[in-house]
Amino acid sequence: DWTMAEFRKTKIAEIREQVGDKKVICGLSGGVDSAVAAVLIHEAIGEQLTCVFVDHGLMRMGEAEQVVSLFKGHYNIPLVHVDAEDLFMGGLDGVSDPEKKRKFIGKTFIDVFEAEAKKIGGADFLAQGTLYPDVIESVSFTGGPSVTIKSHHNVGGLPERMNMALVEPLRELFKDEVRELGRELGLPEIFVGRHPFPGPGLAIRIPGEVTKERCDILRKADAIYLEEIRNAGLYDAIWQAFAVLLPVKTVGVMGDSRTYDSVCGLRAVTSTDGMTADVYPFDAGFLSRVATRIVNEVQGINRVVYDYTSKPPGTIEWE
Ligand code: XMP
Repeated sequence: DWTMAEFRKTKIAEIREQVGDKKVICGLSGGVDSAVAAVLIHEAIGEQLTCVFVDHGLMRMGEAEQVVSLFKGHYNIPLVHVDAEDLFMGGLDGVSDPEKKRKFIGKTFIDVFEAEAKKIGGADFLAQGTLYPDVIESVSFTGGPSVTIKSHHNVGGLPERMNMALVEPLRELFKDEVRELGRELGLPEIFVGRHPFPGPGLAIRIPGEVTKERCDILRKADAIYLEEIRNAGLYDAIWQAFAVLLPVKTVGVMGDSRTYDSVCGLRAVTSTDGMTADVYPFDAGFLSRVATRIVNEVQGINRVVYDYTSKPPGTIEWE
């Protein structure tokens, strides 16, 4: 019988064999895949691995802190944490075209990663959390072979530029298997079970111009939505749930004064691979509770709407 415990042992032997006494560098995205790859590789080769976490300031509430505490605290894995928020926010200033956002973030991510790799004296191997679906779907998640619907950014954009040999221990696995391996390696459930999150982060959940202030507003709304989903016991039944901050202001009333603030969109879908998706059918009471909390607790939002579009024709993310 094929078990994750055996997979772990086999992969550790393979990694040792491949790497020998050379150095490996691994880019962490904050997501499950790169974290599981890093922990597995660290178990195989210890201090020969250095992890680099480029923090673009576009993560969800508390997420960057979680990555740092998981690696430094829980596992004691050396981690270079690059705070690049100002660089990313500066470059996003005035950019509202979705593809321009994606391209800027992808390119800047690689620039920062490369600079850090140089600072630590380089490495012989680049480690990545590439999964089986990434291998077979290397063109794009959403686009067919000839159409790019969205330029995908993840840590996987690095190899062409870096010209290094790759260590990709998760290449045969699907998402649910990576989660299982993560559990086997002792990653906390809150980390392992987390919904997928796109490389460009909150930038593609803020249609129009992205500012730190708008990221902060979105982080608060998103955290309330996810807290309610967890409290209702629905988190694991949903593939992805998130809030979107729209570049539209509407009129509202709070107490006896008029408000004029942004609209927040809520999205939740079920899916098995992100290629197609169905809308998660919350009951009306749940959605009203979330809407009330967001409008009451988040300054800058005075209206909440629910996205009822399946994929196709909608995509999961709004940009
Ligand atoms: P869409 O919006 O294309 O998303 O229906 C399908 C799945 O892919 C995720 N996504 C990304 N993941 N880099 C990533 O690593 C990206 O640039 C990116 N864009 C979308 C999205 O969150 C969903 O799970």
